[in-house]
Amino acid sequence: MKEKIAALLNEVEQFKADSQENIEAFRIKILGSKGVLKDLFADFKNVPNEQKKEVGQLINELKEKAQDKVNELKNNLTTSEDSAGAIDLTKPGYPTPLGSRHPISLVRKEIIDIFSRIGFTVSEGPEIEDDWHNFSALNFPPEHPARDMQDTFFVKSDDKEMALRTHTSSVQVRIMENTKPPIRTLSPGRVYRNEAISARAHCFFHQVEGLYIAEKVSFADLKQTLLYFAKEMFGEKTEIRLRPSYFPFTEPSAEMDVSCSVCNSKGCNVCKYTGFLEILGCGMVDPSVLENCGIDSKKYSGFAFGMGVERIAMLKYKVNDLRLYSEGDIRFLEQFKSAF
Ligand code: DAH
Repeated sequence: MKEKIAALLNEVEQFKADSQENIEAFRIKILGSKGVLKDLFADFKNVPNEQKKEVGQLINELKEKAQDKVNELKNNLTTSEDSAGAIDLTKPGYPTPLGSRHPISLVRKEIIDIFSRIGFTVSEGPEIEDDWHNFSALNFPPEHPARDMQDTFFVKSDDKEMALRTHTSSVQVRIMENTKPPIRTLSPGRVYRNEAISARAHCFFHQVEGLYIAEKVSFADLKQTLLYFAKEMFGEKTEIRLRPSYFPFTEPSAEMDVSCSVCNSKGCNVCKYTGFLEILGCGMVDPSVLENCGIDSKKYSGFAFGMGVERIAMLKYKVNDLRLYSEGDIRFLEQFKSAF
């Protein structure tokens, strides 16, 4: 039996064909339902036990080689037919599947679109920041406990102590240092915090910072600007609520909640039955921050705000786990196909 299989293996290896019919005849002879392999499997029960392992392997090898040969010959034949000019140019093409934008990119773009309609431009800054721009200029003196509000990743760059920026407020400082008011700009970007990763916290996320500096800017301007944003982002019926808060770089400071669009403020598990959801921090830029950046605080005033893009995307698309945004799972990402 072993010789028989060896001879068949040889035959398979040597086999050549120049037409589909020849290949098909070969396939039927070896692999078909009445083919030689079928007979070999039938004879297998007569093989003495001590040879069963070896003979079994040989039969399987023959089966695989024959299948490979058939595939290879068929492939060669179609490519040579194609190159012989047999391509049907009138056939419809294969559609290229469209990708989808990341939900964070979608929300980031929407925020920028909304504010650009009222004259805000876009500014960017570095993700590896020095202490001055991330902390000191923003009224976080060294050793000040407010620095603990943000767990910082420190890095060394050219022997200088640097930090991965913990917020995009660092970009405000850069803009104020380099631009004469009036200033009306947004700074979107990635920020980093040394947090344990969970459904509600991540070591990196995205913020959009807003800054408006001019003469006679008041808290009423801030409130109206944010109300406009909330209505554009979450719908005309959205209400806002400002709660007093503390940030070292704004005075007074507030946190803004929007009415819960999931339950129309009736109370649900998304808004924890309060009817409102917190979406951003804001306030009037502290005069000493203006002075730190070379702006005359007697002449100019301004407001700033900062929001988390992931948080807004969570509310908009009802995503309940932050980790989904960075895992790259195609089943999650594909759901945003129709969103732009
Ligand atoms: N930088 C703050 C944070 O990351 C957010 C923030 C609050 C930005 C108030 C602001 C602001 O511009 O005025 O938590």
